[in-house]
Parts: sequence; structure tokens; C-alpha cells
Amino acid sequence: MSTNTVDKERKVTTSRLIEMKRRGEKIAMLTAYDYSMAKLIDEAGIDVILVGDSASNVMAGNMTTLPITLDQMIYHAKSVIKGTSRALVVCDMPFGTYQGNPLEALASAVRIMKESHAEAVKIEGGSDIRESIERILSAGIPVMGHLGLTPQSINKFGTYAVRAKEEAEAQKLIEDAKMLEEIGCFAMVLEKIPATLAARVASEVSIPVIGIGAGGGVDGQVLVMHDMLGINKGFSPKFLRRYADLSSVINDAVGAYIDDVKTGDFPNATEQY
Ligand code: KIV
Repeated sequence: MSTNTVDKERKVTTSRLIEMKRRGEKIAMLTAYDYSMAKLIDEAGIDVILVGDSASNVMAGNMTTLPITLDQMIYHAKSVIKGTSRALVVCDMPFGTYQGNPLEALASAVRIMKESHAEAVKIEGGSDIRESIERILSAGIPVMGHLGLTPQSINKFGTYAVRAKEEAEAQKLIEDAKMLEEIGCFAMVLEKIPATLAARVASEVSIPVIGIGAGGGVDGQVLVMHDMLGINKGFSPKFLRRYADLSSVINDAVGAYIDDVKTGDFPNATEQY
């Protein structure tokens, strides 16, 4: 059972996250893609639920995040929203729905907000997509940035290795992070970059920096729920801490059910009408 002391009643908003950073209170974020899991993690007190495009991997079984569509993200976000009452729900903008031009980006973000009722969008990239982010912000839609390892660019990177180890890439990341703050993003994710660089960014911007594989010097952490609960055991990066072994729990439970059905033990006299 969790011993955290977070206020489990008060609704989390984008401005509350900024307040949390000012107070030095860490932000806990997890992904979810469906009603039942969103309800469980919301009741446990999670601050932010990310309807990540990692749904493409863990829900749909794709190798990358690229194939998931806007309709599919809206379907997942709609289900998550129904299970959530306290956490802030942020929905990823999928690959190919914002890079073309700012009007296309706005139309995609508007569809997410209108059809799913998510409360903010997350978008991967820096200066290359500045106009798209500004256009979305101009419609009153809160935007969370995402820099460092941006999985939608895997075909450009060619690897999921740590980003921004070289000075030039680190410098560009710092500039992009400051740009995201300046144009009005309410937070950003920094994925898989050196801890010292992430801590530097967090200390130089006033908006919350949520890390994944970016060390402890940032304002909060995010993990993919299936990884941290041990549902997906095939993925074991150094930054991942597993909090449960649900694949064994499920395997044992399903094995016991199969045995009971095969032996005729289930259902028994009290489990029938
Ligand atoms: O899609 C996702 O789950 C993400 C997190 C890894 C930050 O973008």
C-alpha cells in the first residue's frame, strides 16, 4: 500500500503542476490507455496520466510508435478520461498529425480535445515544430513538450540509445527547452538524456520537467505503466524500476483457472444458480 501523502482529492491542473514545481513537490506521471487501469492509478493518487503513443507498442503490439492513428489515440484518451477524476490527462499527438503545418497540427489537437475530452496534448520536438506548437497554444490548448529521445524519430536516430551526450546536441536541447518555456508550454518531458543535462534544464526553466531515463534532478518522473508493473517483461532499460511482477501474477492466476476448469473444480456448488 502506498504511503504517499499527496492530496488525493484536489483536481490536478496545469497551473497546479507549476505550483508543485515552485514548492519543490515532485510530480508522478504514468501512462494509461484504458478505463479500468486509469481508474486504478487515479485512485492511487497519480498526478498526471499520459495517454502515450506507447499504446502503439504495449496495446497494439507494434515495434514503434509510428503506426498509431489519431482516431486510435482519441479512442484510448476517451476511455482514460472516463476512469479519471483527479489526475490531469495528457494525450500524445501521434506521428504525422502535427509536422505538416500549423493548421494541420491545430486541427489534430482540436480533435483530441473535442472528441476525447483530454485536458492537454503532448508533442515531440523543438524548434522544427515551433509554429505548430504556437498555433495549438493560441487556441487555448495546453501543450507539454517532449525532447531528448523522441521515439517518433527512431528512423532518423536509428537507435534508442541515450541522446544529447555530445555538446552540440546538449546545447540544442537547452535552447529548445527554453523555447518551449518561452512560447507557453506548461511542462515538458525529457527522455533518456544525461542526468546532469536534465537537472540543468530543470533548474533553468520555470515549467515542470518530467524525466524518463533523465535522472533524479528533474521535477517529476514518468514511466510506461506496462513496464513498471512488469506486464511487459521484454523491455529492461537501466532507468526502469519494476514495482510489480504482474506477468507472473497473471500467468499463475490463468494457470490455476485452466486447471480448475479442466478438473471440473470450477464452478463449484456455490458458484452456480
Ligand atoms: O508514449 C509514451 O509513453 C511517452 C512516455 C515514454 C513519455 O511518450
